[in-house]
Amino acid sequence: MPDKSTSSKASAVERPQDAPTVAAPEKPATPLKIYPIVKYGDPILEKPGAPVKKFDAALEKLVEDMFASMYAAQGVGLAAPQIGLGLRLTVIDVTAGKNPEAKIVLANPEIIHAEGEVREEEGCLSIPGFRGYVVRPQFVTVKAQNAKGESFEIRGENLLARAFCHEIDHLNGILFIQHLGMLKRDLIKRKIKKLKKQGEW
Ligand code: NI
Repeated sequence: MPDKSTSSKASAVERPQDAPTVAAPEKPATPLKIYPIVKYGDPILEKPGAPVKKFDAALEKLVEDMFASMYAAQGVGLAAPQIGLGLRLTVIDVTAGKNPEAKIVLANPEIIHAEGEVREEEGCLSIPGFRGYVVRPQFVTVKAQNAKGESFEIRGENLLARAFCHEIDHLNGILFIQHLGMLKRDLIKRKIKKLKKQGEW
């Protein structure tokens, strides 16, 4: 991946500060599609997604394209609404492509257990250039389906727990700025408005 089109403009958000830039895992035979990331202001980001019902080859291809798009944007998580699809589907890889076994697909995910609290800085590929401190659970257990429709449970700690919460929020139409204090959130919104006016958003 990182290929010509989008990677040169990739932003460093939704990526831990110290994460090295690494190439994504080997390319499968079918060409991957790199989707542009939808930015804050697009109503799809604030609408709950519809459940994934069809677990077919098209969904598996979509999942691989989502991973490719996420790696190209140097993110550690990407939810379907962020590529303009109102679906309860998200991909996560907190190793940013370093470990192929760390690739997680969550279709129709639900948080079934959460414990502890961690306050950490967070960003979002759809709100590039802005970060803010958000309190999230330290441990999160998620029940979901994989790309084949098989149910599973997965437990995450710290960054992975945060990624689960952030991405599942996306599927419910919630963005991380909604967890910020009103002053910080309004400041970000005002700055984005200004960027939009200048044609830079
Ligand atoms: Ni996000």
